[in-house]
Amino acid sequence: MGKTAVTSALLDWYDIHAREMPWRVMPAQRKAGVRPDPYAVWLSEVMLQQTTVAAVRDYHRKFTSIWPTVADLAAAKDADVMAAWAGLGYYARARNLLKCARVIVADHGGVFPQTYDALIALPGIGPYTAAAISAIAFDEPSTVLDGNVERVMARLYDDHTPLPAAKPVFMNYAERHTSQDRPGDYAQAVMDLGATICTPKTPACGICPVRPDCNAQSAGSQATLPKKTPKKPKPTRHGIAYIARRADGAWLLETRPDKGLLGGMLGWPTTEWGDDPAPAAPCDAVWETLNEPARHTFTHFHLILTVQTAWLAQSATPDRGHFVDGAEFNATALPTVMQKAYTLAAATLRQV
Ligand code: ADE
Repeated sequence: MGKTAVTSALLDWYDIHAREMPWRVMPAQRKAGVRPDPYAVWLSEVMLQQTTVAAVRDYHRKFTSIWPTVADLAAAKDADVMAAWAGLGYYARARNLLKCARVIVADHGGVFPQTYDALIALPGIGPYTAAAISAIAFDEPSTVLDGNVERVMARLYDDHTPLPAAKPVFMNYAERHTSQDRPGDYAQAVMDLGATICTPKTPACGICPVRPDCNAQSAGSQATLPKKTPKKPKPTRHGIAYIARRADGAWLLETRPDKGLLGGMLGWPTTEWGDDPAPAAPCDAVWETLNEPARHTFTHFHLILTVQTAWLAQSATPDRGHFVDGAEFNATALPTVMQKAYTLAAATLRQV
């Protein structure tokens, strides 16, 4: 680790071009001694895994206004946190977020630990997040390596080793440039560079602060890097979503088990998801099949959910799920695939 020409150039660039983010302390404020709120930083880094800054902004605002401190979040009801997270995806992150908040309150007196080693011991905090929080919130000289930083390093070193095998090599490059004086600003600078200039398809090399040090730019290979080992094509799974409404307008919903996909989330009762799952309607009724299925892609598969709708008698007693009053029902508290199914069904289940 040390300070290289790349480090200096990145920090100088960041001093002028740092992107504003609700949780970010801008470089001038940081130099004046303002410190980021570790809670806000942690929340942002967990939300930003697999998600863009644009998508995260509103969720971050919502979380910090409902739960301004880690103690507030630790005291929240699980269902409220899952509902607030709905739409962000990767719901295990939300369950671990709550677990982590509760451990910080129970075992650390509500105060975030500062070091990489202490942070990585917490639920839901992996190597990337531990490095990001320790660097950004506490100015520990940890090295962050996310997709953006991998791309920057592959190009700086014109290294054609394919990902994911190249990760340790790219980590080694990234460590060489990690700033000892301003580790937090450095981490954010290299990520901002990857997000705004050293972009995947057409990097803006003409305005890049580290262009003189970039081997890929000299070789003309920048747009082909990083190389990636091809992924297996995703299989397609099928299922049926059952969207039912009782005579009084209440919707039949089900909280999914904590383990597994969409764990802990509220949704429509469905069959298992597989090649040809057996029907599993939650209630005897006249089920109508919609022409159009809900389609959604998860990390490891595509899902095609046939949507069936039904009106239920006021006296209906479903085998599973629970009714939610029409007035209390809020589709935005459902995961995206369940919102898609709802949008398709809503027209046939409108109250008169
Ligand atoms: N992506 C993930 N975390 C980030 C951060 N702190 N700054 C910029 N981009 C990021």
